[in-house]
Amino acid sequence: MKRQTVCIQGLGFVGAAMAVAVANAKDSKDEYYFDVTGIDLANKAGIEKVRMLNKGTFPFETTDKALQTAVKNTLKSKNFKAGVDPEAFSKADVVLIDINLDVYYDKQQEPYLNLDAFKRALKTIGQHIKPDALVIVETTVPPGTCEKVVKPALESELKKRKLPANKLKIAHSYERVMPGDEYYNSIINYWRVYSGIDEVSSKACRDFLSKIVNVKDYPLVKLGSTNASETAKVLENSYRATNIAFMEEWGRFAEDIGINLFEVVNAVRKRPTHSNIRQPGFGVGGYCLTKDPYFAKLATKELFGLNNHDFEFSSKAVKLNNKMPLVSLNKLKKALGGISGKKILLLGVSYKQDVGDTRYSPSEIFAKEALKQGARLTCYDPLVNVWPEANVKLLNKLPLNLNFNAIVLTVAHSEFLSARFAKKLSMSKAVIFDTNNVLREEQIKILKNNKLMFIGRGDL
Ligand SMILES: NC(=O)c1ccc[n+]([C@@H]2O[C@H](COP(=O)([O-])OP(=O)(O)OC[C@H]3O[C@@H](n4cnc5c(N)ncnc54)[C@H](O)[C@@H]3O)[C@@H](O)[C@H]2O)c1
Repeated sequence: MKRQTVCIQGLGFVGAAMAVAVANAKDSKDEYYFDVTGIDLANKAGIEKVRMLNKGTFPFETTDKALQTAVKNTLKSKNFKAGVDPEAFSKADVVLIDINLDVYYDKQQEPYLNLDAFKRALKTIGQHIKPDALVIVETTVPPGTCEKVVKPALESELKKRKLPANKLKIAHSYERVMPGDEYYNSIINYWRVYSGIDEVSSKACRDFLSKIVNVKDYPLVKLGSTNASETAKVLENSYRATNIAFMEEWGRFAEDIGINLFEVVNAVRKRPTHSNIRQPGFGVGGYCLTKDPYFAKLATKELFGLNNHDFEFSSKAVKLNNKMPLVSLNKLKKALGGISGKKILLLGVSYKQDVGDTRYSPSEIFAKEALKQGARLTCYDPLVNVWPEANVKLLNKLPLNLNFNAIVLTVAHSEFLSARFAKKLSMSKAVIFDTNNVLREEQIKILKNNKLMFIGRGDL
């Protein structure tokens, strides 16, 4: 049987991994289901991702062996290529949209929507696509986008090409991919939600996903409309961001009354109803939790023309989470008697443990403010070589000489969790500030003679 052709628009953290998963999908006779083409923009970053994927290398630092193996395998299977020529969409039976859709901020730091880049991407697809193709939006979008933006944009391009627009299938199925050790697994062995703009689209999306996702163990969840599944994505991320923000004041309380909030939280988590309560920390970063909680509020006004939903809770959560790194900075400032001229070693600049992604990382907020206030900052992250967002140079290994006023631990990367690492820190006279529950109890014992500070702990 002829393989279906799949095109993936956007080869970022999600699209690159999804492209690899689609290319590796096989039927019961061990035959590959699809011929896959990944498309990115013809700019420097896009071309580099294409180049790496075409030589069998994942374009981002990853600790996930399964993903590395799956990318390499595409060289053997010969059913995958990456490129920048949108002509590829003309052959696609299925198009996956995995591009970014950013939230913008005005001078008062209030969020607003600008869909121009997203609409340009849709136009590119519409200019080439077959009239009966299936387009699945995986990008996290404001509720209402598939119906009010994607459908009209694609139909309009088909009409310009004098092609029928009534056979096009449009579906929405958002990604829950988790970069880290389980990166690849989080695509194929994980629950998925999907929906279509009509029953035909919904069914086509289900059939497609069933070939990639392990639906036997992780059955797909169908929602009644694209508005509903778009809402599901922004609701789940708003919930997560709010849950984290909720813990902030409890962290301060614990520090002041002399208790260990992590111990408290672990006790609370024993209740199945409270098992995912978060914990205090350094802040919230990454591309998703920092913007998704704004999407429902923005969609209310800009896509549904309503004025009556402010989503006060979710908006407050993002603002509070953004302030968290400054709480750590202020604590440090107090401990050091000022920050200007102080030598600070920042350990961890990505937003998450064992992930090299620095987008919207809390370390960026901390570093920029510390530098503004005159701190002499040195930064190291075992998974990051360049830190474009902060424009700060990074060391490529932990410095031998730990002659600093403070060492700030921000991310629980594996390299920071050993007794050896703690012994190294113990040689320093610096204040050691664990802002994110990085240090294990045995490491804390090794550091008992050092001056230690914590977020969320007042017991030490
Ligand atoms: N990163 C995550 O962990 C994660 C998890 C779940 C969902 N998401 C969502 O998935 C979407 C993508 O996220 P990401 O982290 O992969 O973003 P990303 O910025 O890493 O990747 C987006 C890619 O799309 C490319 N692109 C943009 N416009 C294009 C166009 N017109 N044609 C071709 N390529 C284009 C960009 O060059 C970039 O390579 C977002 O909506 C995000 O919120 C991300």
